[in-house]
Amino acid sequence: MSQSAPELETAGRRLPGDLDKAEMMDRIIRVDHAGEFGAVQIYKGQLAVLGKTASAQTIQHMAEQERRHLEKFEALVVERGVRPTALQPLWTVAGFALGAVTALMGEKAAMACTAAVESVIDQHYAKQADVLGPDEAPLKAVIEEFRAEEAEHHDTAIARGAEEAPAYPLLSGLIKAGSRAAIWLSERV
Ligand SMILES: [Fe+2]
Ligand SMILES: [Fe+2]
Repeated sequence: MSQSAPELETAGRRLPGDLDKAEMMDRIIRVDHAGEFGAVQIYKGQLAVLGKTASAQTIQHMAEQERRHLEKFEALVVERGVRPTALQPLWTVAGFALGAVTALMGEKAAMACTAAVESVIDQHYAKQADVLGPDEAPLKAVIEEFRAEEAEHHDTAIARGAEEAPAYPLLSGLIKAGSRAAIWLSERV
C-alpha cells in the first residue's frame, strides 16, 4: 500500500479488483471486533491459570486494555451495522484455550503467546491504518492508538522472558500462523 499518497481517500487506495469501500470497511470492523474479542478470551485464559503469580498484575493491565479495545469495536459494529463474525463461539473457546494452555506451560510460555499474537496484530493494524484515508480519519486514529498498546503488550511480554520459553521458535511460529488464519477467517466468515 502506498504511503506516498496519504491524501487519497480510503476508496481511492484500492487497486482494480479490490473490494468496494463498503465491503472493505465491513471486513475491517468485523475482523478487528473478532480480534479484540479473541484477545480478551486469551487474557482471561491466562489469568485463570496465572491469577496468583507475579505476572498477574501485568496480565490484568493488558486484559483491561483489551476490554477497552473490544468495547470500542462493539460500538462500531452497532454504529455501522456490521455483521459480527459467525466464528465468535469458536474464538471464545480457542482464545481461552490458547491463553490457558500456554499459561499452564509456564509464565514465559504465556508471555511467548502474548508476544506472538501481538506482533501479528501490530502488523495487521499497520496494514489497516495504511489503507484508511482522511475520510476514515477517526477510525484510523483509533486503530493507531490500539496498535501502540498492542506493541506495548508485545514489548512487555518480551521483557518478561517470552523468548526464554521452552521451544520458543516453534511455539511462536505456531501461534503466529494460528493468529493469521484467525484474521483471514474473521474477515470473511
Ligand atoms: Fe487489543
Ligand atoms: Fe493486545
